Amino acid sequence: MSSENLWAARRRENPGHSAWYIARFEAMRAEGADLHGEARLADAMAPRAARILDAGCGPGRVGGELARRGHRVIGVDLDEELIAAAKRDHPDVEWHVADLTELDLPGKEFNLIVCAGNVMTFLAPGTAGRVLAGFRAHLAPGGRAVVGFGAGRGYGFDEFFADAEAAGLAIQSRFATWDLRPWSPSSDFLVAVLGRRQ
Ligand SMILES: C[S@@+](CC[C@H](N)C(=O)[O-])C[C@H]1O[C@@H](n2cnc3c(N)ncnc32)[C@H](O)[C@@H]1O
Repeated sequence: MSSENLWAARRRENPGHSAWYIARFEAMRAEGADLHGEARLADAMAPRAARILDAGCGPGRVGGELARRGHRVIGVDLDEELIAAAKRDHPDVEWHVADLTELDLPGKEFNLIVCAGNVMTFLAPGTAGRVLAGFRAHLAPGGRAVVGFGAGRGYGFDEFFADAEAAGLAIQSRFATWDLRPWSPSSDFLVAVLGRRQ
């Protein structure tokens, strides 16, 4: 088991943190906010009825929508409260409490791994490389990972590119938003598409 991730540290400091997160997205949904930008891109990248891993799925916002669109989704997160909410809201999807730094889903290979909502910046410091190596190990032939996170959160874009490279992943495309605006090093967000390095 790796050291405490930054999400778990927030929960330790504020035991209501996960409930707050769930309620925040429920309120946005009730207000009619668009919560599916990540799922729309992931859906466009995947074959029909694809095997998709929602890595750091939280309460299942992205994976639940992908399942609704006909994909075979597995969601993994270390926060059992968020996984309980995912199970409640999307009972037909496979959700697991598991640590991405020790990702081991025997026999499971994914056409697409989606890692949305700043998960990379909530990992325990120094563990991103292990998480990315786990993504690589769970990609089906020709499969890809799409990873999005913001700047200024303690894990930089250059560090991510280096970690991906070291994990045997090639950065195939970089965007600044989930609707594919162009990325530059001064962008405040990154959406990276990764595939196995040949
Ligand atoms: C801001 S939430 C994003 C949740 C979801 N992807 C979304 O977009 O709503 C960040 C998530 O990363 C998860 N996380 C952080 N480190 C993790 C790890 N090592 N293994 C699994 N999940 C982790 C947290 O538990 C938390 O649910």
